[in-house]
Amino acid sequence: MSDAANYGEGDATFQAAGGEAGIRALVEDFYDIMASNPAYRTIFSWHPEDISISVDKLARFLCGWMGGPRRYTEKYGRISIPGAHQHLNVTVAERDQWLGCMRDALDRQPYPESLKTYLIDALSVPAQAVHRVSQAQRP
Ligand code: HEM
Repeated sequence: MSDAANYGEGDATFQAAGGEAGIRALVEDFYDIMASNPAYRTIFSWHPEDISISVDKLARFLCGWMGGPRRYTEKYGRISIPGAHQHLNVTVAERDQWLGCMRDALDRQPYPESLKTYLIDALSVPAQAVHRVSQAQRP
């Protein structure tokens, strides 16, 4: 699957990303990179010590977000992505750390370039919402 026009329709993105196993591999790489690359030190330091919980939560969330089964809701209940980050001071720098780390993780996946570009563009929307809501709470 490399036709960018299909992404976002039904479960096309979920299937192109390799289903649940593919998304879990993406999220494991995302957190491995965040833990080891000093460029992402700030946002990594905000995570709980047991990073496996964060891996599970993000992998389950992205599964439903890409049009697959709603695994996050099944286990953890309803979530608002901006609301879940309101306690964090996500400036432009931290927003860009998150997106940069995701771009690095995508580059490790056997995905067509069209899917990587689609995902980074699509994830920029909730990332910007996280930033906006986080800053709205602060003086
Ligand atoms: C904009 C930059 C972002 C930063 C700096 C960031 C950082 C974090 C941190 C530090 C946590 C752990 C919070 C805690 O345990 O106290 C977290 C949790 C989480 N993040 Fe993000 N995040 C960002 C964007 C996103 C985006 C765009 C998504 C989804 C598309 C996302 C999905 C999640 C999920 C599902 C959790 C688990 C929430 C929960 O169950 O409590 N994050 N994030």
